[in-house]
Amino acid sequence: MNLADARTALARARRVAVLTGAGISAESGIPTFRDAQTGHWARFKPEDLASPDAYFRDPELVWDWYAGRYRDVMAAMPNAGHNLLAQMEQEKGDGFFLATQNVDGLHARAGSKRLVELHGNLTTARCEVCHRVEDLPAPQDFTPPPTCATCGGRMRPNIVWFGEFLPEAALEAAADAFAAADVALIIGTSGVVYPAAGLAFETLDRGGTVIEINPTETDLTPRLSFSVRETAARGLELLLGA
Ligand code: OAD
Repeated sequence: MNLADARTALARARRVAVLTGAGISAESGIPTFRDAQTGHWARFKPEDLASPDAYFRDPELVWDWYAGRYRDVMAAMPNAGHNLLAQMEQEKGDGFFLATQNVDGLHARAGSKRLVELHGNLTTARCEVCHRVEDLPAPQDFTPPPTCATCGGRMRPNIVWFGEFLPEAALEAAADAFAAADVALIIGTSGVVYPAAGLAFETLDRGGTVIEINPTETDLTPRLSFSVRETAARGLELLLGA
């Protein structure tokens, strides 16, 4: 398959399923998950902060890290990649589905609605006692940890951490959408974290086309129909003829 074939397949597809990872937010200035952490946080690996163990050991440390990421995310804006996916949803309607591994909330801010956030959203917190989910206060008014408005319990970041299960309904909806897709797009993800990375095979195993957009080769590349070696925004522009 070449770029022209990929463009035709996408234009003709009635059902399109998209998986995004940290790479799509790179052009909004948000560092990818596996990029080096900077400053004070350079001593920590994300895996050592984004886990139930880390939170149990030192909730203040984990909340400080998320509060910093929350400030960065709220200072950032969705980029052309997020916007083109929101536009694609307008065009494909019910046939469109977007699953993201990102917790930055930028797809929702770009206007995507047929969206599941497989790893949660760092702009919200969840009560450890009654499980109520709340938006965090504006960054300038936020001092962690937040307290539940209903029961007064401590709230934790509303994130799926390493070693935790993905929300079952969201994962099932994503698996169904990828199984039904004529074309799936895998954008800006290193494809190493399962089960999200396995979604591509739901499409491939049923004869669908899977196109990757990533400036570098990934573990998934050899198995996919075609790869666009570009950034998320440029790759989407090329595929959509925008
Ligand atoms: P990674 O940081 O592992 O991978 C980011 C990918 O984006 C890499 O393959 C880069 O080549 C690519 N990339 C970089 N800049 C890009 C750009 N401008 N446009 C497109 N692609 C670009 O991030 P994820 O694959 O999202 O899970 O990581 C998946 C999950 O791993 C995260 O959600 C997190 C982590 O474990 C949890 O927190 C549960």
